[in-house]
Amino acid sequence: MRRREILAGAALFGLPAAGAGAEGGPLPDPALLERDPESYWKRIRDEQFLLPDWRAFMNNGSLGITPRPVLKAVTDYLSQAAALVNDDYPRWGYETLDDERAELAAFAGCAKDELALTHNATEAMSVIANGIDLKAGDEVLITDQEHPSGREPWLLRQARYGIQVRVVKIPLPPKDSAQLADLLISAIGPRTRVLSFSGILTTTGLIMPVRAICDAARAKGVVSVVDGAHMNGQIPLRLADLGCDYFAGSPHKWLFAPAGCGLLYGRQEMLERLWPTIVTAAWSDQKLKAARFMRIGTNNRAVVEGLMAGLRFLKALGPERVYGRVHQLARMVFERARGQSDLELLTPGDDRLYGGLVTFRMKPELFRAFHALCAKKRIWITAGERMRVATHIHTRPRDIDLFFQTLDQARRGST
Ligand SMILES: Cc1ncc(COP(=O)(O)O)c(C=O)c1O
Repeated sequence: MRRREILAGAALFGLPAAGAGAEGGPLPDPALLERDPESYWKRIRDEQFLLPDWRAFMNNGSLGITPRPVLKAVTDYLSQAAALVNDDYPRWGYETLDDERAELAAFAGCAKDELALTHNATEAMSVIANGIDLKAGDEVLITDQEHPSGREPWLLRQARYGIQVRVVKIPLPPKDSAQLADLLISAIGPRTRVLSFSGILTTTGLIMPVRAICDAARAKGVVSVVDGAHMNGQIPLRLADLGCDYFAGSPHKWLFAPAGCGLLYGRQEMLERLWPTIVTAAWSDQKLKAARFMRIGTNNRAVVEGLMAGLRFLKALGPERVYGRVHQLARMVFERARGQSDLELLTPGDDRLYGGLVTFRMKPELFRAFHALCAKKRIWITAGERMRVATHIHTRPRDIDLFFQTLDQARRGST
């Protein structure tokens, strides 16, 4: 599309003109949140995001949207890099980025030297799965609810090197956390070397009892890997408290980071044992600790600036307020869906077991009609064989109303 058409389109759809209020301005007074929470969150959406009024965006589970301060950090950095006004090389891929990792680690609840930046959770999971010493016949346990990025790296290793991948079935929905922990722990057998599972299931939004599973794995000498793509920014999280050996994160989903930001965490002694996958000089320099996994060649540093701006945006809002709002909206979705007999809820009823993702199934004909109507009404959701709704601070209660009104319309067969 040519620039003139883009600008015309922007005006037509009510998008802010380029440069208008690019920074987002100061956050509203928290007193407003006490007095009138809906007005507070409306102002956050209107002032801090570029989302036009006509868009109902409910798909942070795939990729979040960039708030204004994050966009500004990225574009400012790109401008400065083009002008070469900074004295640092405008790149990452050879740097240790100590200040950035220290700030991220303080938030994520681990040591700086246990945390590396990657491009996404897929990359972190592949580095982990390729980097653990395993021999033919060694067993890796995964669940049947893994995202392909948490499953395929192990299957590739099985195809290439003869490890055995065994899949544990997760009930949908489960009875409780104890049942889930029990299922995974009791599946550990004499050849199991690794237990790899999602901290929050991509399929249903279920929060797994990570600590109990990882503690049991460690007690049995089994390495634990948590695919935490949905964890950073959706729920309170301290990596050291998870008790896992390795963790993959995806802050561009819930943590306001721009696309292209991932995290790789490893407990210190476990990082020493992990082989890197993408390498250049110093791949074996253990003094670098987690930064050994960041020596991957020239990269776009602007996204790191965006990642830090996203983290600071969350901290300025108050992480607890953000998690609270994410969950409050998800509960609204859950409660509305619960009353509808043609929806099969896959998210458990105990609301301690989900954060901001609610999933349900419906008959294929209804699903097709509903999905087509959602596209028409500019409701952005994930659609596979199930419907997954993600709520974040930019989600409006009226988006949820629109979603369910649209479902009613699909039931009536109207277009
Ligand atoms: C559980 C899980 N793991 C990994 C991924 C892959 O994340 P990314 O695309 O950031 O690599 C996703 C993406 O939806 C996911 O849901």
